[in-house]
Parts: sequence; C-alpha cells; structure tokens
Amino acid sequence: MLTKVLSAAHFGLEATPIEVEVNVFKKGFPGFSIIGLPNKSIEEAKERVKTALINSGIDFPNLKIIVNLAPADIPKEGSLYDLPIAIGILASMELVKIPEEKSFFYGELSLDGGLRHTKGVFLLALAAKSLGIKNLFVPKDSANEASVITGINVYPVTSLSELIGFLNGVSEIKKLNHTVHHSLSTDYETVEFDFSEIIGQESAKRAMTIAAAGGHNIFMMGPPGAGKTMLARATAGILPPLNEEESLEVTKIYSLTGNIPPGEGLITQRPFRTAHHTTSRIGLIGGGSDPHPGEISLSHNGVLFLDEFPEFPRSTLEALRQPLEDGRVSIIRIAGSVTFPASFMLIAAANPCPCGYLGDPKKECKCTPRMVMKYQAKLSGPLMDRIDLHINVPAVDIEKLIADPTSHKASRGVVANSRQIREEVINARKIQNKRFKGLKIYTNANMKNKHIGKFCDIDKESLLLLKQAVNTYNLSARTYFRLIKVSQTICDLAGEKRILPNHVAEALQYRIRTND
Ligand SMILES: Nc1ncnc2c1ncn2[C@@H]1O[C@H](COP(=O)(O)OP(=O)(O)OP(=O)(O)O)[C@@H](O)[C@H]1O
Ligand SMILES: [Mg+2]
Ligand SMILES: [Zn+2]
Repeated sequence: MLTKVLSAAHFGLEATPIEVEVNVFKKGFPGFSIIGLPNKSIEEAKERVKTALINSGIDFPNLKIIVNLAPADIPKEGSLYDLPIAIGILASMELVKIPEEKSFFYGELSLDGGLRHTKGVFLLALAAKSLGIKNLFVPKDSANEASVITGINVYPVTSLSELIGFLNGVSEIKKLNHTVHHSLSTDYETVEFDFSEIIGQESAKRAMTIAAAGGHNIFMMGPPGAGKTMLARATAGILPPLNEEESLEVTKIYSLTGNIPPGEGLITQRPFRTAHHTTSRIGLIGGGSDPHPGEISLSHNGVLFLDEFPEFPRSTLEALRQPLEDGRVSIIRIAGSVTFPASFMLIAAANPCPCGYLGDPKKECKCTPRMVMKYQAKLSGPLMDRIDLHINVPAVDIEKLIADPTSHKASRGVVANSRQIREEVINARKIQNKRFKGLKIYTNANMKNKHIGKFCDIDKESLLLLKQAVNTYNLSARTYFRLIKVSQTICDLAGEKRILPNHVAEALQYRIRTND
C-alpha cells in the first residue's frame, strides 16, 4: 500500500514541503530502498530507521519497501527524514493511522527508537504556519523552537513507540503551549571583563560605547598587551538586549545551524562571536555544497570579533567586503542562490606591525620597512573604508596598571562600569528603534544612504565641517556617509535632536587618526 507523509527540507532559511512516499509491497523481492536522498545519507538513514523500528517492538517486514522523497530536485540533507520514513513504513503496513489534518513529521531517530534534537525546527514551524499545516510532530528537545510560533499544534515526541501509541489513539502526547517571551535576556554573566577593570584607555572605551550604541564597525590598533582583546571582550557586556524582530532573525539562523541548545526556543542573547584567523573562508563567510551560514551570519544583529586582523588570509578579508556593505551574503549554487543575513558589528584588532612595536615610544620596532608594508597592505583601502571607527590603543603605563586599583579610582573619580555604559547604549538604541520603526533597520549603522537624508537632521555648520574634512583628508564618499551615521549615534548618545558640530568633530577624530 502506498502512503504519503509530509515533511520539509531547508534551502537557505526557507523550509519547503517534502512528500515522503512509502510503498511496502506484499509481493516481490525483499529489499529496502530510498530514493531522493544524497547517496551517503541513504545508507545511514536506512540503518537508523530499520534499527529504530525493531527496537520499538516492530517486526521489520521482510518485504519490498520503496521510499521516495519528492520532489527529487530539491537538495535534501541529513537525518531529519528518519521520522517521516518510519511513520510512512508503519502506515503502509497499516500499523498506524496518519492524521487527516495536514501534519509535518520531522526528526532524527536514534537506534533505540528515541528522537534526537534536530536542527531547523523553528524554520519548519514558520513554514507550517504559512502553509496552513495543522500539526507538527517533532523531537521533544527541539519542540520549544516551534512553540514560539502561534496557530499550530506542536507535539513534542520522545520516542517512536510513544508516537505510534498516540497516532493509534492509545496514549496521549500533550501539545506544547505557545511560549510567550515577555522579556528578552539582559544578563551577561558570562562576560569575561567589566569596563571598570580596564585601566586608562578612556578614549578607546568611549569609541567602543559609540560602536555598541550605533552598531558601528570598529578597528583597534596598538602594541601587544595594550588591552585590545580585553576591550573587545568587555564589549559583550555593554550590548543592548535584542528586540523581538532581531531575536526572530537570529533564531532562524541558529535553528538552521543547530545552534539552539536542546529545550530552548528563541535566541534572546545578542550574538557575540569570535573567529580565529585559522577559520576557513567557508567557516567565516558561509558556503559549502549544501550552503550553510558562516560566522558572519551567526553574528547577525550582534558582534563579530576578529582578533589579529591582518593574520587572516587576504582572500578571506576581501570576502568580508560585500557583507560589510550589504548586511547579507549571497552564496551562488547550481540549485539556486541562497542569501543569509549578515548584518553584524565588526570589532577588529591589530598590531601596527608584525613585531607590534612600530611607533612605540619605549620599545623599538624590529621589522624591516618591507615587512611593515606587506603587513599593512593586507588591510586594503576598501576594507578599512567600511570600518567607521579607527582607534589607537597605546600601551598603558605599567605604573598605572600595577597601582592599587582603589587609588586609581580615587584619582579619577568613579570609573564607569559595564552596567552604566550599557544603560547609555540602551537609551541610544531606543531612539534608533523608534526612528526606524517598521523598516527592519535597528541601528544607525544599518541605514542606507537614502535614509540619511530622511532621518539625519544635521545643521549647516556641522555639514560645512564635514565637507571641509572630506576635502582636506581626501575622504571617500563612503566615508562621508559613514561619518554622518557615527555623528548621528554620538548625537543619540547625547540625547540631542540635531547633529551638532561637536558630534561631527568627534566622529572625525575616529577616522583621521590612523587613516592619514
Ligand atoms: N588597560 C588595561 N587595564 C587593565 N589590564 C590591562 C590593560 N591592558 C592590558 N591589561 C592586562 O594585560 C592583559 C593583556 O591584554 P590584552 O590581551 O587585551 O592585550 P592586547 O592588546 O590584545 O595584546 P596583543 O596585541 O598581544 O594581542 C590583559 O588580560 C590584562 O590583564
Ligand atoms: Mg590581543
Ligand atoms: Zn615591528
């Protein structure tokens, strides 16, 4: 008898329906074949499904079984079809009844018949909602991802035998209630450093505050041990919480990549990702034969920290250019191109030269001019042009570092801690969220040039100052627009309505220092 079970495949961030057709023949040569899956996964799926059925107390039939995953031309990956295949076989043997209401079956089986946490359930639920699918049968550990979406019945399944009982009306699986997320997470207990632990570096801290407030890319240059890595890591603690729309966008990417921990639903913490320079290009940018998002997409709506920036291969750095400009990345494949969001705030850190001491007042640089040139050339004009804030982080005087922290505080008054700075950042973000309501723009840095004219109120004197700087320092048009965006953030931090000359002057400071 032929049966059809509905499931879904992922292509990019979209889930499309897949029909799992199963025929168990009463006659013919015994065998078990699956068509419509890539070669490697077929064997594995067959073994898993067969063993899981046997361990769930089912007599695996010694008959001819054919499974077809249609349409054949949609690329399918992984183990998520285990459950629909198993249910299809059972239905074809008339051992279970598939509900009349349209239902998605989805999930990986373990050999004992249990269901494993399976990636992509959030996307499955979104597709179910838009397609009018009533029921979702998914692994219990992944079910909370689906319960974020309203209007569908989510059944958390722990094992195949439990589901068999339920489909036959013998036992109960309790539907999950829709989870409402009233408040998005605000705690950053895992943050390594607090801003108050960073001694000196006042202007670097100020620049970080601006970057975090407006989502601006920032580049730090300084000698070894100056505290660049420390500053970057501390920034995780001053980021504002995600708003609801941002949270949904991040959750999509994390669901697809299996980055939502078992039992969790929405991602509520703003991403802060670090990539090492040995990370592959695909790992950073995304790609692969079955295109998956890279670190730049996992940092969407959050921060990507690239330490030792010039150590990254040049081709990788160049590949960052398009996403830094567009806030998304397109991966072209024969099956069609996939676009993943990649609107992240870049924090990059570097030494001024390979030995690190170029321009240091105390230590001598040991590099040849050629070495320095080669090193700095990696940071090409067009790439650096996309970074809004460029700062020097000089080494802090050792005397200051080893002084008693309390006396240090006393000498400079109260040192702002991360909690206080975060309040400033949150207030500036609130102004931005209000400004861009309904536009899917969340920060000043996200603005396209056309929005600048619409939203940025800049006075005549400020504009004049900006134009003079552009001429004097020969700044690019891109830099000009980025400078207005940074000025807007400084203005928002000050709680002003209009961009004033002092806002522009400060924004300029962060461009001209290392750029000339
Ligand atoms: N301004 C500072 N205040 C307090 N501690 C500091 C400061 N600067 C450096 N340190 C201490 O020095 C350590 C090294 O700093 P960090 O790793 O951030 O330097 P870096 O600039 O990233 O150096 P490198 O270029 O070698 O990577 C920190 O973990 C911290 O303990
Ligand atoms: Mg460092
Ligand atoms: Zn050097």
